[in-house]
Amino acid sequence: MSLLPILRYPDARLHKIAKPVAVVDDRIRRLVDDMFETMYASRGIGLAATQVDVHERVIVIDVSEDRSDPLVLINPKLVAVSDEMMVGDEGCLSVPTIYDKVERHARVTVEALDRDGRTCHVEAEDLLAVCVQHEMDHLMGKVFVEYLSPLKRNRIRSKMLKRSRDDESVA
Ligand code: NI
Repeated sequence: MSLLPILRYPDARLHKIAKPVAVVDDRIRRLVDDMFETMYASRGIGLAATQVDVHERVIVIDVSEDRSDPLVLINPKLVAVSDEMMVGDEGCLSVPTIYDKVERHARVTVEALDRDGRTCHVEAEDLLAVCVQHEMDHLMGKVFVEYLSPLKRNRIRSKMLKRSRDDESVA
């Protein structure tokens, strides 16, 4: 397994739309393994392939406290969403140190393929529901900061650009 570099907002590649996975083969399983290793190493709870510059519909998630509940969603589709909405603080490995409130469906049902290519249904609520919606947005080229006001978004964009310039001058 290997750690993959994570794209940082406002990298334009975060806005690419991911293609469906044609076959769940060893290449995809290797990607899934590398994504889990990358997500756990970064202490994240979810990672979409888009964030590691692979534009295929693959998501890994683990919202458990002890990092013992890995969930793989390949070609995920929302088949049901609750009318009830909830607002929670979100963060993203592509927008480090930034957290803000986003409104999401409180419950969703997702149909996807697992790492063996079998169809599975996941009923998610609370944090898992938020995470599924956040990661599925990534596959559509959408980063959570795009739900915030233009003022906030511009401030975040400037902060991220300044930080990447600072990182380069140190390197
Ligand atoms: Ni994210």
